[in-house]
Amino acid sequence: MGNKIIIECSGATHIAKKIARSSKGEYSKLELKRFPDKEMDIRFLKNVKRKKVFLVQSFYGNINEKIVETLFAGYTAKDLGAKKVNLIALHFPYLRKDKRFKPGECISSKEINKIFSFFDKVFIVDPHLHRIKKIRKIIKVGKRISSVSAIANYIKKKNIKNTFFIGPDIESNQWAKGVADLLGEKSAILRKKRHSSRKVRVKFNRKVDLKDKNVIIIDDIISSGGTMLETIKEVKKLKPKKIYCIAIHGIFSENSLKKLKKQAVVVSTNTIPSRVSNIDISMEVAKFLK
Ligand code: R5P
Repeated sequence: MGNKIIIECSGATHIAKKIARSSKGEYSKLELKRFPDKEMDIRFLKNVKRKKVFLVQSFYGNINEKIVETLFAGYTAKDLGAKKVNLIALHFPYLRKDKRFKPGECISSKEINKIFSFFDKVFIVDPHLHRIKKIRKIIKVGKRISSVSAIANYIKKKNIKNTFFIGPDIESNQWAKGVADLLGEKSAILRKKRHSSRKVRVKFNRKVDLKDKNVIIIDDIISSGGTMLETIKEVKKLKPKKIYCIAIHGIFSENSLKKLKKQAVVVSTNTIPSRVSNIDISMEVAKFLK
C-alpha cells in the first residue's frame, strides 16, 4: 500500500474508492459537517502524518463551496504533517476565463492559480485550455491527465465501427483526433464562433464525407449543450447513420442532456457523475498516483 492515502472529498464520492483500489493506496473519506450557520467543519478520519496525501475532488454543482472544502482539507493535511499534499481535480473550475474582455474584469484562471498553488501538485483531467495551451502556464503546479485512451477503449468495448470523429472547435481537435488516431479512424473539426454564453455558430471548414457513418462528436465540456446542438445540426446535413456525443466533463446545465438525447446517443466520462457518465477514467487517474 506504500505511504499514499486517497481522500474522498464531497465531489468524488462516486469514484475516489475506485481510484484508491486501482492505485493500491489507502482510502478514507473526508468528514464534512455543518455548523448551524452553514459554515463547514471538516476532519480527516485517518492519520495522514508523513504520508503522501491525494485529495480527490470534482468541482461541479456547488463549485465555490467545494473550493473552500478543498482548500481547508489541503491546509489541514499540511498542518497534520503530511509529507506531500496533492489534489486530483477530476473537473477543475474557473479555467475558461483566460483573458480580460472588458476593463475591470477578473481573469479567473489567473486568480485560481494563486489559491491552489500551495498544493505540491494539482492533477487535472483534461483542463479547459483555450488561448493558453499549457496547463503549467496557468496552474503552476498543474499536471494534465488525458482521458483520450479511456474514451477510445469505451468505443472499442461498445464495438462501434465505421466511425468518423468530429470536434466542434479547434481546441477539441486534441480529443477528436486523439481518439480517432488511437482507433485508426478519421477526424475533422468545425470552426466555432461564440456570440454569447448560450449562443454559438459552427461551420465545417472543409468538405467531409459523413454519409452512413457513425459520427462521434467529442468535446471537453457540455454545459448548456449549445455547442453540441449546433454541431449536430451541421452533421445531420451530411446524412450520417448515427450520431454520438461524447463529453469529458458532462455538466449538462439547463436541461441540456434531455435536449441532446432527442438528437443523439450521449455519453460522458465520470469526472462528473450523471445518468450517462459511463466512461470510467479511474484507471487513467490511478496511473498518476505514485
Ligand atoms: C468551450 O470552448 C468548450 O470547449 C465547450 O465547447 C463549451 O464549454 C461547451 O459549452 P456549451 O455546452 O454551453 O455550448
